[in-house]
Amino acid sequence: MAKLTWKAGALLAPVPPALVTCGTMEHPNVLTIGWTGIVCTHPAMTYISVRPARHSYGIIEQSREFVINLPTSSMAKAVDFCGMRTGAKLDKLAKCRLTPVPAETVAAPLIAECPVSLECKVTEMRPLGSHTMFLAEITAVQVEERLVDSKGKLNLQQAGLLAYAHGEYFALGRKCGDFGFSVRKKPRR
Ligand SMILES: Cc1cc2nc3c(=O)[nH]c(=O)nc-3n(C[C@H](O)[C@H](O)[C@H](O)COP(=O)(O)O)c2cc1C
Repeated sequence: MAKLTWKAGALLAPVPPALVTCGTMEHPNVLTIGWTGIVCTHPAMTYISVRPARHSYGIIEQSREFVINLPTSSMAKAVDFCGMRTGAKLDKLAKCRLTPVPAETVAAPLIAECPVSLECKVTEMRPLGSHTMFLAEITAVQVEERLVDSKGKLNLQQAGLLAYAHGEYFALGRKCGDFGFSVRKKPRR
């Protein structure tokens, strides 16, 4: 397959267009973050990269806490809006009809409409250039009860999560395997 060599760029896709909440229940804010991921399993650690100009930047810098909320495909419009407008000028949660609910381990609220939320405490701030990376420990995970079956297994396929790839939003599609399926022995009949 012929390939074109492009100049360096941030083309990693798909990524979760996370709704990141910060502040407090009384004064919450939310912004959309594409630059996020998991960096360690034990301890469970994540990062978000935020431009210093964002209103949320100062809030997270001061509180050293935030929540990563994973949105569903039906929330695409709210996700885009929270990434286009600043919380310095309006209450984005109220405007998008997103419900803040108290978290267990941080003062920042969760978003009730998001099926999965990761509560995070910042361990390190690293300025990288356009963005500063907030490295953080995940201190609690909240999952919607209806997605957990009687054996305690989380069925994320039923959540209808939203993905973001190179400027476009997608609904996650058909399941095509699960962890380890390529090497799993078939049960004997
Ligand atoms: C899909 C999408 C992904 C985004 N990812 C990031 C990101 O990773 N880091 C960042 O600083 N801004 C990102 N933004 C932009 C912020 O969400 C946007 O500037 C927002 O209005 C900031 O809100 P605030 O001023 O209330 O903090 C993204 C926007 C969109 C639509």
